[in-house]
Amino acid sequence: MQTIIEPFRIKSVEPIHFNTPDQRAQILEKANYNPFLIKAKEVIIDLLTDSGTSAMSSNQWAAMMQGDESYAGSDSFFRFESTIQKITGLPIVIPTHQGRAAEKILFSILGGKGKYFISNTLFDTTRANIEFSGAEGIDLICEEGKYPSIPAPFKGNMNLTAMEECILEKGAKHIPLCILTITNNSGGGQPVSMENIRSVHQICRKYGIPLFIDACRFAENAYFIKIREQGYQQRSIPSIVHEMFGYADGCTMSAKKDAFANIGGFLAMHNEALALQCRNLLIMTEGFPTYGGLAGRDLEAIAVGLEEVMEEHYLQYRIRTTEYLTNKLIAAGVPVMQPAGGHAVYLDAKNFLPHIPVNQYPGQALVGALYLTGGIRAVEIGSLMFGKYDEDNTLIPAALELVRLAIPRRVYTQSHIDYVAEVIIEVFQNRDRIQGLEIIEEAPTLRHFTAKLRPVNH
Ligand code: F0G
Repeated sequence: MQTIIEPFRIKSVEPIHFNTPDQRAQILEKANYNPFLIKAKEVIIDLLTDSGTSAMSSNQWAAMMQGDESYAGSDSFFRFESTIQKITGLPIVIPTHQGRAAEKILFSILGGKGKYFISNTLFDTTRANIEFSGAEGIDLICEEGKYPSIPAPFKGNMNLTAMEECILEKGAKHIPLCILTITNNSGGGQPVSMENIRSVHQICRKYGIPLFIDACRFAENAYFIKIREQGYQQRSIPSIVHEMFGYADGCTMSAKKDAFANIGGFLAMHNEALALQCRNLLIMTEGFPTYGGLAGRDLEAIAVGLEEVMEEHYLQYRIRTTEYLTNKLIAAGVPVMQPAGGHAVYLDAKNFLPHIPVNQYPGQALVGALYLTGGIRAVEIGSLMFGKYDEDNTLIPAALELVRLAIPRRVYTQSHIDYVAEVIIEVFQNRDRIQGLEIIEEAPTLRHFTAKLRPVNH
């Protein structure tokens, strides 16, 4: 097979700043072993997130020049709205400044004490917004999704049996919404099959529970359906996308992912009454409903990006990138989530560093080692991000200890990815030298963003 090449030419570049292992050791210590506290220019390859880090196309930049910055009823809004209506089939579109702003509005209205939100897996900001409202979020990932090293085509699926049991146990009237995260970010960027989306839709219908899609990576999910699910090989990506959204009553979206935008998001839905409440909150927190906290030029960039992301050459290259890196790591014996996710490669830190107990945060220790060895910035998705404490202040660990290497869209080339593989393999060969970490300072919610840590034998 011929090499799958980057389906773009590079017109504008930005320099990478290099530093030495000694400099990085000092930087890491100063950042209290938290990658969020490292300056971007001190990073060589930044895989902290695929969110807001995309390279925009010349068409997006051109569209930005046409941004209509009118406060109300701008042309840019109508282009944004009609693009989303066409792609999703959802008639009501409400812009927000990013995904979590859409979540904040939705869960402020639907949440509250005694309510439950069910999901394949809620992303951390989604869960935080649900819990902040006083409600509870319940993850019901399928069995295959619980084992990082066992490959399966759709490890992001909802466990349908558990879903129905949960509805019967909690009572449908206490469940205002079911949320399918596609692809399933916290579960390893794994896709959800069309069959599963359809079944979740049917169960939701049976019990009168609305279904929303957390649609950040909808195009990547659609491509996985096309290549992995029977009956979809001949279907176009837009038609798969349309079918996916056809099963939903609405969606939340962060345009910072599969819309190639550096900022932005939206809510889309069928329900007029809910939309009215959302718009009322939006005016108080985000802005008038035709801009929702965004500049007209941002709405333009999103509208163009949403179309570009569905191009098959792009999606083929995109999914190939994570697969290429994953395969190199597997060949070297590195414990990695299989198969590759859409937007990221996930290292299994528990098996990578079996000598570090979960209460010494093996994922975060591995993140530090990747930075020290190669200036690569990754993020822990494990007990630092999701751990809780019981009444005795003992850590209740997360189910998985993962390290995510998220690949920004259209930013890095194959040689960057080769370098990343070399660094990870070097770290793996020297893994015995890596020490666990302890927390010295933390916030009560979303602690991973600001927590300060230090090596256990400091
Ligand atoms: N839902 C999912 C599945 C996400 O991955 C994110 C963001 C959000 C919602 C929130 O969107 O950032 O625009 O407010 N994920 C980023 C990440 C931050 O790194 O995975 P946002």
